[in-house]
Amino acid sequence: MQTHFKYLAVLLCISCLFLSRSASADQIDGARLYEQACAACHGSDGRGRSVEDRGFELELPDFTDCEFASREPDPDWHAVIHEGGPVRAFDRMMPAFGDALTDEQIYAILGHVRTFCTNDDWPRGEFNVPKPLFTEKAFPEDETVFNVRLDTDDSKAVIIEPVYEKRFGPRGMVEVKVPFGRRESPRDDNANLGFGDLGLGYKYALYHNLARGNAFSIGGEVILPTGEEEDGFGSGSTKLEPYAAFVQLLPGDAFLQAQVLGEIAVSGDSEDEAAARVVLGRTYSEGEFGRAWSPMVEVLASRELVSGSDVTLDLVPQMQVALNTRQHILLNVGVRFPVTNRQGRKSQIVMYLLWDWFDGGFRDGW
Ligand code: HEC
Repeated sequence: MQTHFKYLAVLLCISCLFLSRSASADQIDGARLYEQACAACHGSDGRGRSVEDRGFELELPDFTDCEFASREPDPDWHAVIHEGGPVRAFDRMMPAFGDALTDEQIYAILGHVRTFCTNDDWPRGEFNVPKPLFTEKAFPEDETVFNVRLDTDDSKAVIIEPVYEKRFGPRGMVEVKVPFGRRESPRDDNANLGFGDLGLGYKYALYHNLARGNAFSIGGEVILPTGEEEDGFGSGSTKLEPYAAFVQLLPGDAFLQAQVLGEIAVSGDSEDEAAARVVLGRTYSEGEFGRAWSPMVEVLASRELVSGSDVTLDLVPQMQVALNTRQHILLNVGVRFPVTNRQGRKSQIVMYLLWDWFDGGFRDGW
């Protein structure tokens, strides 16, 4: 492996006489600096040196493991290298290099670390931008989300919807949703407890290009009529929801996400619907490396596919915040305001608690 890099360095050095100098120079620097500053622990091959060689028990990350490495965005790794492990609740055995290396040197080293994963099918963690309250993300995820919706209308509904999402391979993801809650029944004045409509979904990242900063996925959900229709918990219809989801990274940690979807009733008497969702947001960190806050504004548009029906528009301002040091437990709170078709529709308080469990246990990293 090491000799390969030397050959590569020589080749790059020759080519830099002909090609753009700065880019290749960064590459060589990165590999050399990695060798000097990181290889003693992380190994020249990026897999982490053996316990005998490094002299401590703590497990080291394997940078050749694309499933792990691809999902970590450069800015997070930059924070850990600059500030040391504790900045993201990792061990202090991972030293801080902020005084020894410039930002350019750290990014050059990261450029080298990125060469250890050789399968670029895996979409990069940079696309894992904050999750909006309604719009489906383009990024396939390993996470558990607890959605909570509080209605201010007569139903006074409190619906909790746990969602379990698990990645399959570099681009795929499966999803299960099981809503339940409490609401005032429309037929009598009783408050009922019950389950809603169960959802099963699949998503596939069709396209992603970090240089262009955009990614595109397609997916679909099957919604089963498990919820009691007469108590208002379910629609009474089996539905198919095909969708496409898009993300564009923007300068200054801003991002645009969009989703278009259809809602097709395959049984029952619900009307078919088409919907579009767009969200614009930006992430701010406390200090350079601290807690991330992401304000977002989401616009939801939907229309029943019946002639003469109007477009229903909602606006959902919201704020996502990282609750712990590892930043893998997140809270998002917003309000869904009806903009058109307001008759019989009231504002809804919407939130989620999200646990990105690939990054650690629920109680890790606080
Ligand atoms: C003294 C040994 C040591 C040196 C030197 C070292 N590291 Fe680390 N590094 C570690 C350990 C140990 C961990 C894992 C900490 C944990 O899991 O709590 C780690 C974790 C990391 C992580 C976090 C991975 C994740 O889980 O997201 C990155 C990135 C990293 N190191 C990069 C580097 C780079 C780049 C250098 C050189 C500039 C370097 N390290 C030098 C020991 C070291």
